[in-house]
Amino acid sequence: MPKLIVVDRAGEESEVQVGDGLTVMEAIRDNGFDELLALCGGCCSCATCHVHVDPAFVDKLPAMSEDEDDLLESSDHREANSRLSCQLPFTPELDGLKVTIAPED
Ligand code: FES
Repeated sequence: MPKLIVVDRAGEESEVQVGDGLTVMEAIRDNGFDELLALCGGCCSCATCHVHVDPAFVDKLPAMSEDEDDLLESSDHREANSRLSCQLPFTPELDGLKVTIAPED
């Protein structure tokens, strides 16, 4: 199974296996990282699934929708590599992807 590396807010790195058809948000949430609230359940309306993506992978991600862009704009912690993890299907090409859970807004 492809793996995802998650860095929590304390800077601790963990590796999780990701099953088929999950988004990055679901993979993080299902592995017990309660820091990632994902309050809207993946509808792209809460921005509590904000992550910073390893710059090496930014080009492999799907384009950002206007809604995602608007929501990220409301965060004080937006960086050039910010994404909402519920908008990132975890495809096999993303094996080894590293994401850092963004600070709470
Ligand atoms: S879970 Fe709400 S925007 Fe991603």
